[in-house]
Amino acid sequence: MGNQEIKVTHTTSKKTKPNPDTLEFGKIFTDHMFIMDYSQENGWHSPRIIPYQPITLDPAAIVFHYGQTVFEGLKAYKTKEGHARLFRPNKNMERLNRSNRRLCIPEIDEEFALQAIEKLVSLEKEWIPTAPGTSLYIRPFIISTEPYLGVAPSKKYQFIIILSPVGAYYKEGINPVRIAVEQTFVRAVNGGTGEAKTAGNYASSLKAQEVVSEKGYAQVLWLDGLEKKYIEEVGSMNMFFKVDGEVITPSLNGSILEGVTRNSVIALLKHWGIPVTEKKISMDEIYEAHQNGVLEEAFGTGTAAVISPVGELAWNGEPLTINDGEIGNIAKKLYDTLTGIQYGTEKDVFNWVIEVS
Ligand code: COI
Repeated sequence: MGNQEIKVTHTTSKKTKPNPDTLEFGKIFTDHMFIMDYSQENGWHSPRIIPYQPITLDPAAIVFHYGQTVFEGLKAYKTKEGHARLFRPNKNMERLNRSNRRLCIPEIDEEFALQAIEKLVSLEKEWIPTAPGTSLYIRPFIISTEPYLGVAPSKKYQFIIILSPVGAYYKEGINPVRIAVEQTFVRAVNGGTGEAKTAGNYASSLKAQEVVSEKGYAQVLWLDGLEKKYIEEVGSMNMFFKVDGEVITPSLNGSILEGVTRNSVIALLKHWGIPVTEKKISMDEIYEAHQNGVLEEAFGTGTAAVISPVGELAWNGEPLTINDGEIGNIAKKLYDTLTGIQYGTEKDVFNWVIEVS
């Protein structure tokens, strides 16, 4: 796959760009997409950039029936000088292959996939919005396309990359969101697919989200699938808490997603000398910290969500207000620094950013 040429077919009718000030998340797509195929005979082959368009699949394609599919999410940002940048894209490609291995999907060449992203982003550079808080969301994904109703790994796949100019993931933007701790449904169990970025994890989360959204909560906070006692993640973000001066986050246990933003936040906190611990955290412990007045902050981290402060956690029917429902100092500093690195206004001390020519 490594040295294959990516053939480009340009669109003949460019779309009108959206108003950057009213962008929502994931509703608008750019002029082109990347696509390549996999077959057992030829491996990954025929990489091409083509005009954005619907794809045709056999109704028996495995992806429709058994959900053998994986995806990633990363963003391109534009600096004041007009340079396009990617934030730690190699991390996403590594995770894509970890998800591939879990879902029995043939691995991709990470470097080649990154070249494909760079080439597509470079072609669509004028689609990267520059209004504060906006970016170009990159969605690489792999689907199983073999028409077969038996439950077995597909023999055919497509790797596709689409791009979407986006604003904030939550309507609240950087303002605190309200989150309900989920006590009925579970997202993942040890040994399951929780740490893979695969569609089924998200499909199975919809019901819980539907129930709480009627009560005005943005998302649910998942507890562990066995005892419903320990904090896992919020589907679209990893969670952090500041308790009595120490930042804590659930350790990677096989059932939560290994977030790129999570990893970056831990690195930044360590760099600033702020104590941060990855550990098993029970909801009881968080409740107790709240009762004792030492639950100082809670926030989620994710590519789409960036840093999202949590102003209220509902548990056992009781709303726990955190930091008076305001964004905390650590969440604010992390948001400013991370986005500063991404948009090129802060020094990139860790060399996380890659410029796209
Ligand atoms: C991301 O943060 O990129 C994600 O993939 C979360 C997504 C479900 C919106």
